[in-house]
Amino acid sequence: MSAAKFRVTPLDAEHDRATFSSGSKPLDRYFQQQVTQDVRRRVTACFVALTSERRIAGYYTLAAASMLLNDLPSSIGKKLPRYPLVPAVRMGRLAVDQDFKGLGLGGALLADAMNRAAHSEIAAYAMVVDAKDKKAAAFYQHHGFIPLPNSPLTLFLPLATVAAF
Ligand SMILES: CC(C)(COP(=O)(O)OP(=O)(O)OC[C@H]1O[C@@H](n2cnc3c(N)ncnc32)[C@H](O)[C@@H]1OP(=O)(O)O)[C@@H](O)C(=O)NCCC(=O)NCCS
Repeated sequence: MSAAKFRVTPLDAEHDRATFSSGSKPLDRYFQQQVTQDVRRRVTACFVALTSERRIAGYYTLAAASMLLNDLPSSIGKKLPRYPLVPAVRMGRLAVDQDFKGLGLGGALLADAMNRAAHSEIAAYAMVVDAKDKKAAAFYQHHGFIPLPNSPLTLFLPLATVAAF
């Protein structure tokens, strides 16, 4: 199965989250116990990748965010207006079920999130992620994300790069 075989859609009540297992307990617990409440309260949006049998193979969350201009690498920050905050979209969580790892789905979900954010009518400069550990940070760097100089587990990617995905 390749990443092209999955359909990405907003999470809804018909989707079965109970058996989702990414190997990360906090990410699984959040998805099974918390995410629908957060969606209802409008503090996050959640998208799922479905197989043709409607099994959930992966998910990610998106919410409005901002970054401090002074946290960006100076080579990038100096090209932006000198407001203290830079608008962004945060991908709070990203997880792929263990049965579907290594198929390109994680990369496809990243590309899907970048596309959604880039095509919103509300402007945002970048996608920002908080990697849970160095391995996750390496995954994002592999896809072009740039670590913040003073906080390398927070990474960002300008949405202007979307055409490259
Ligand atoms: C990280 C995760 C989302 C990756 O999903 P995946 O579907 O297995 O990854 P993909 O198959 O899409 O990998 C895409 C590319 O990233 C690379 N990659 C995967 N993990 C990587 C890592 N830790 N470091 C560097 N590159 C990595 C792959 O080699 C592949 O490269 P290629 O496109 O050049 O062939 C998945 O392993 C996961 O859910 N992990 C547990 C939760 C987690 O760590 N989430 C991260 C957010 S905190």
